Formats: sequence, structure tokens, C-alpha cells
Amino acid sequence: MIRDLSLTITKEGNTLLIVPANSEKSGPASSRVPVFYNHAMEFNRDISVVLFNRLLRDGSSFLDGLTATGARGIRLANETGKNISLHLNDGNPTAIELARRNLDLNGVAMAEVSCTDLRKLLIERRFDAIDIDPFGSPAQFISLAAPAVRNGGYLCVTATDTGTVSGIFPGACLRRYGTRAIRTPFYHEIGVRNLLGFVAREAAREEVGIEPVIAFYADHYVRCIVRCRRGAGNADRSLKNIGFCTFDQNSLERRFIGFQEEGQIGPIWTGSKCDADLLRNTALPANLGSSDRISRYFELLAGENDVQRPHFTVDELARKAKTGPPKLSALLEMLGQTGKAHPTHFGPKTFVTDVEVERILGLMK
Ligand SMILES: C[S@@+](CC[C@H](N)C(=O)[O-])C[C@H]1O[C@@H](n2cnc3c(N)ncnc32)[C@H](O)[C@@H]1O
Repeated sequence: MIRDLSLTITKEGNTLLIVPANSEKSGPASSRVPVFYNHAMEFNRDISVVLFNRLLRDGSSFLDGLTATGARGIRLANETGKNISLHLNDGNPTAIELARRNLDLNGVAMAEVSCTDLRKLLIERRFDAIDIDPFGSPAQFISLAAPAVRNGGYLCVTATDTGTVSGIFPGACLRRYGTRAIRTPFYHEIGVRNLLGFVAREAAREEVGIEPVIAFYADHYVRCIVRCRRGAGNADRSLKNIGFCTFDQNSLERRFIGFQEEGQIGPIWTGSKCDADLLRNTALPANLGSSDRISRYFELLAGENDVQRPHFTVDELARKAKTGPPKLSALLEMLGQTGKAHPTHFGPKTFVTDVEVERILGLMK
């Protein structure tokens, strides 16, 4: 019952939200609360608002499948400027009570609300877009969610089991995602590609192909939004992006290889991670709390998509070259004279390049 909760009002974008008092401001929030709300996910929800402003049409249906306070779905109804057919669902009745209050607070009258196990809803209904934002791993929902997305629609998935999806815990990674992994200096990228690869493989079982709109790591989670295309041919096409990643701890060489070759990490997504044109050409509303950060992310994601090879960190190369870490901008300029080189969103000291490791090390000495 929400009358037993201590509540407060917060604002994300143009949306007011009644949320449990003492909701944490950063990092992963506890799942042991009567209703879940994490202010640190505002950036994640801002990106949904920005992209779905482009991707949804009037009348599109959107399922916020694990809605908690209703934050994401209500923001989409309120801030995309699209007349969407919103459905909020959560298995927790107290969360649904709070979500209803948030719908009222924002004058979103036309939403459908349900309090059921998401897996049941996914078997019964179809939507133009579905968001899955669970506690930890989304693995159990994907094979049900992919066929519940209408042809050409969108599946959005957040995974907060970052250590597992990124291969830091190889046993759990194999169990949960069916992916063999080792610890790497570029583990956040493995997390992003492992999530995409898992979504692609689970969707393919249901004869659904995927095309990434965006896939990224931020804060304590990895996230992707993919376009779903029905049909065995589309599923086969998206599986062409599945392969392995090799990483030689000695030489620091790393690359993606096809499915047949023997590899060390995988199967993971080795193809393009985003729709770079869409990210470059999406206007950002000024009112969002994280406009500047989104703009930087979109720029980095579109740039790094130019090279399909795991990223490097300046520090690992400096250790290998037995030298101090160079300034990233200076290194990128040198590499740019030989090949492609772009900073990445994985961290301030990371970059992708198609230049051979030996050559990079030579430039650093
Ligand atoms: C991380 S929270 C969702 C946060 C929310 N999307 C947001 O943006 O604030 C996960 C929610 O999933 C709900 N949940 C977990 N398993 C579920 C299931 N199988 N069916 C329906 N709801 C479920 C929990 O009650 C919880 O509210």
C-alpha cells in the first residue's frame, strides 16, 4: 500500500514523478524496496525520450513491461510529442498503485495498466515497442519479448548485472547468457556486445532478426534498443553478426572473428552497434537534464561505429610500451595519419582504431 510509504516528488525532463523518499541519486539502487526508483537512470530514460521522439508514430503502442513508478512510459507519453498508446505493467501491486498516481499527476489519461507477470503479458499481446528494465539480468524475458514486438518495432533492454554480462564472472556469464568469457581491459564493450549477441540469438530462435539502433554502457548498466524484423531470412541476416572475440594477453592484440573459427570470448555481437546516421541527425530538446551528456554519447557512439574491433585503453598500451600514458587526443591524431581512430564512450582513455598494435606501441615510444 503506498499510503504506508514515505514519498517525495522529483522531476525528470518535463515529467513530475512521485517516488519513494530516499531514492538513491547514483549507482545501482536496491531491489529490496517497496517500489523501485533510481534517479541515476534518468540518463537512460532521457535517451529513450530522445530516440522514441524519432522512432514512434502517433498511435504506436509502447509497453513499459517492468514499469515500477511508471517513470519511463509516462515520460514517453508526456515528452515525445507523440500520441502513443501506453501500457504500464509491473508484478508489484504497490508499484502499480504509484504508477497510477504518476499517470494522474501528469494528466496521461489514456494509458492501460496491468499488474501481472510480464512473461504472461508477452505471450498474450503484441506491441510496437517493448521496454524491459529488470533487476539484474533480462535473460529470462528476451525469447518471449522478441516475438511480441510487431514487425519493424523496437525492443529495448537494460541489463544491470554488468559484471556477469561483461564476463567478469565467467561462470555466471556462461550460465545466464550462454557466452564463454574471460576478463579483459575492454570488458564493458564485451557487456554491450554480449547483450546484443544474446538478444540476436534468442530472437533468431523465434524467427526475428534485429538491427541495433543504439547499444551502450553507462554508469552501472548496459543497454540496447534494437529494431525487430520478422522472418527467418532476417533472423539469419542478424546472426551473421555473431562471432567471437580474441584477446592475446601477451601482445594485447584483439579482434573479432567469425563463428567457425576458434575464439576466446563469445558468441557475441561483432557487427555495427548503432544506427550512426540516426544518432548524428537526432535533435535534442534543451529541457532534458542530460542533454549535453546524450549529445556527447551520440557523437562518440556514431564515431566509434566506424571500426568494428574491440577498443583499447591508453593505460594498457602505456604499460605494454613501458612509457607514460600519452594524451588521447595526441595519440588519435597520430593514428589518424595511418588509419581510422576514434575515442569511444567506454571511458575517457579509450579509443578504437584499425591500426596494428605493434604500430600503436611504436608511436607511443
Ligand atoms: C528495475 S525495476 C524497473 C524500473 C523502471 N523501469 C524505471 O525506469 O524506474 C524492475 C521492476 O520489475 C518488476 N518485476 C520483476 N519481475 C517481474 C515480472 N516477472 N513481471 C512483472 N514485473 C516484474 C519489479 O516489481 C520492479 O518494479
